[in-house]
Amino acid sequence: MRLDPVNLYDYEARAQQVLPHANWDFIAGGSKDEITTQRNRSAFDAISLRPRFLRDVSERKLETTVLGTPISFPVMICPTGGHKIAHPDGECGTVRGAGMSKTLMMLSTSSHYSMEEVAKAASGPLWFQLYHRGYEATQMLVQRAENAGYKAVVLTVDTPLPAPKERDIRNRYENPFPLGNFGATTEAMPEMSGTDEAPNWQPARVPALLWKELDWLRSLTSLPLVLKGVRTAEDAHVAVECGVNGILVSTHGGRQMDATLSAIESLPEIVDVCKGQAEVYLDSGVRRGSDVLKALAMGARAVGVGRPLYWGLAVDGANGVHGMLELLRAELDQVLGYCGQTDVQNLERGLITVPSGWGNGKMYP
Ligand SMILES: Cc1cc2nc3c(=O)[nH]c(=O)nc-3n(C[C@H](O)[C@H](O)[C@H](O)COP(=O)(O)O)c2cc1C
Repeated sequence: MRLDPVNLYDYEARAQQVLPHANWDFIAGGSKDEITTQRNRSAFDAISLRPRFLRDVSERKLETTVLGTPISFPVMICPTGGHKIAHPDGECGTVRGAGMSKTLMMLSTSSHYSMEEVAKAASGPLWFQLYHRGYEATQMLVQRAENAGYKAVVLTVDTPLPAPKERDIRNRYENPFPLGNFGATTEAMPEMSGTDEAPNWQPARVPALLWKELDWLRSLTSLPLVLKGVRTAEDAHVAVECGVNGILVSTHGGRQMDATLSAIESLPEIVDVCKGQAEVYLDSGVRRGSDVLKALAMGARAVGVGRPLYWGLAVDGANGVHGMLELLRAELDQVLGYCGQTDVQNLERGLITVPSGWGNGKMYP
């Protein structure tokens, strides 16, 4: 008898067994030597927990809110392009899994199903992730997202140029499915080139959006704006001055640029800048409930997972995504109690020890 996966790594191993090699590589790959991808994990491993005992932890509260929207626990689904490479249900399966776990999914611009189809399949909240590929395309996408009931726009800022991954070049990888948000043609493909979902590697045909153009972006919609991929206090300062509502600290899973700090190492300087002005979230390398607690203890409001959604989807469609999320929930619940904490929104200071040199020895949060 085959046992159910007991952790996210079980989902990963099973996904590798069922996925075609090139699809597996596309999902797993990182930029260049994949140092940032690995560092996203090793940095989490380098943080230690400081548990507190002899307390009443019989009831623990995992619910929280992101930009005012309730979610049942502080783990969200990251925006990732093209879920049909893992399962024919694609993003509609993923969003059903997220809904079963009562949490939020961010939908990528480069999804295989359209944002309207995904909204129809959803039972939980959605944010729309935007790759800016020209003013007309951005206006069209943002307005559709608002009409379809998405609750925020997440502008990805960390892909100014194409970043083909060496695994994909070797595999001559080409995504076989059209992009759902652009109709059933492959015409939009070159426009999206340079993003994570690029089927070929031509330079993007339009320049990246600039800070001074965020006002224009905001004028298109009443939805709140989150910036995804900010890595430094300097950029966080400008973002806050521009009035963004949230920052998702992310290395894009180490997929666009190598040799940077991990996301969790960058988190403290950004939290410092954003305090009280913008919510801060984190993704990149989250695989355990203890990782979630570590990020929250360092000031993140919630975290996101990217690759694990494909693992769940590949193994068992919507149920696999739900199963993957429920493993994270159970681990978070357990580690919360073991650390003497009862509320993810109200963690006490001193829950973690970080390697010397991180954040100049300050206490978290
Ligand atoms: C296959 C794949 C496709 C992705 N596509 C997008 C995308 O379209 N837009 C985006 O902002 N981020 C994209 N990402 C990055 C994720 O949103 C997220 O930042 C990253 O996966 C988090 O790291 P993790 O995979 O270690 O959890 C993608 C990631 C993967 C693995």
